[in-house]
Amino acid sequence: MEVFRICGGPSLKGIVNISGSKNAALPQFAATLLSSERSVLRNVPDLSDVRFMAEILSKLGAEVRQLDRTSWEINPANITHNAPYELVRKMRASICLLGPLLGRMKKAEIPLPGGCVIGQRPIDLHIRALSRLGAQIELEKGIVKVDGRNLRGSKIFLGGRHGSTVTGTTNAIMAAVLAPGITTIDSSACEPEIVDLCNMLVSMGARISGTGSHSLEIEGVSVLSGCDHNVMPDRIEAATYAIAAAITHGEVTLVGAIQEHLGSFINVMQESGVAMDIQNCGQIKVHLNNSELNSLEIITLPYPGFPTDLQAQSCALACYAQGLSILTERVYPSRFMHVPELMRMGADIAIEGASSVVKGKSKLTGAPVMASDLRASAALILAGLAAEGETWVQRIYHLDRGYDAFEKKLQGLGAIVERIPESKLPKSF
Ligand code: EPU
Repeated sequence: MEVFRICGGPSLKGIVNISGSKNAALPQFAATLLSSERSVLRNVPDLSDVRFMAEILSKLGAEVRQLDRTSWEINPANITHNAPYELVRKMRASICLLGPLLGRMKKAEIPLPGGCVIGQRPIDLHIRALSRLGAQIELEKGIVKVDGRNLRGSKIFLGGRHGSTVTGTTNAIMAAVLAPGITTIDSSACEPEIVDLCNMLVSMGARISGTGSHSLEIEGVSVLSGCDHNVMPDRIEAATYAIAAAITHGEVTLVGAIQEHLGSFINVMQESGVAMDIQNCGQIKVHLNNSELNSLEIITLPYPGFPTDLQAQSCALACYAQGLSILTERVYPSRFMHVPELMRMGADIAIEGASSVVKGKSKLTGAPVMASDLRASAALILAGLAAEGETWVQRIYHLDRGYDAFEKKLQGLGAIVERIPESKLPKSF
């Protein structure tokens, strides 16, 4: 397995182009199945999760072609309704195929995604939403089988213990756009990725109002056309580079990020002494106001709250901030797999219930560490950028699921980072 080697020290400087959003692109690949016509998705990030999704659509019978590094053409004229376990098990997000298959084929069979290190991740809210639309659902030998012959508009409430559900909302929307009658979804998630999906669906002929709020109304139509859609920029990737700039006391300009998507993050950064200046051209320049970072206080919440997908990276930043920082997880209360690995680098962190309490210091020391999931991988690399000596991050296949050309972009900013193939690793690995 490949490993990242990072030599800590250099302040990052320069500009970085933000890629298309993973969490917007994945449900949009699934949404192309709602029409029998050809669709094109542009500004798609180059990620292993995207390639998985493309492979699943091919296995379902769609003709899928990569036109260039960031554009994909999908022709789903002839598809089946059952997704293959060997691919679905590799990516939890494949559950977002449930809504489109049900909408278009009126039936779907998807193996239940397995466990996940960041939390339990049940799909009870997805099931609740589809049942409200009239779908008959059963679980047989680990496969969710859904019969949607009697699908019709209905009232759905999507609030759960941890707020709404992002993928549950996308499934409900995608099943409802082709269900006769009016569907209302209350307590729907309102993440920018959902807005981007709704914009794409509207361009295909769907009738959706309330986009961007917690209350959506959908009037079912009988058929949708194909589309040519640009995937929105990745707000989590943008924020990760902002943290890279702050943690190395550098100056980095984010090109292509959308400021409105980053409200709660910009607020936390400003309070910790990191300026995120919006330039006239829309670019965001990130730099420190003073020579020190102030402690952080973060509570993760559904959008527009602070994103759970930035909690681990913020923890890396807190390790280098003055005083005590507190990071509380309200979306995935046990998403702290990065903590023991940061502690191997000398971080002083205590986990108290669903919070990590971080006592900041000026230096961590590089060490061999293990990535457990996508955002934890990014956190360890960020910590390594400012650490003394070398950090070796193992299991970076997690990183490749969600960060487009991470080491190349970091190298472009002056970081000393390299990807080392298994054959060239020292014997100790
Ligand atoms: N939940 C339930 N029941 C459900 C669905 C969710 O209790 O039926 C709970 C979850 O266990 C969790 C909370 O509700 O505690 C939120 O889960 P949600 O369904 O919103 O998460 P998701 O749709 O499975 C997406 C992103 C995640 C991101 C979360 C939260 C995609 C493909 N994934 O997951 O992204 O953390 O929303 O914002 O969009 C990542 O990119 O690293 C990542 C994990």
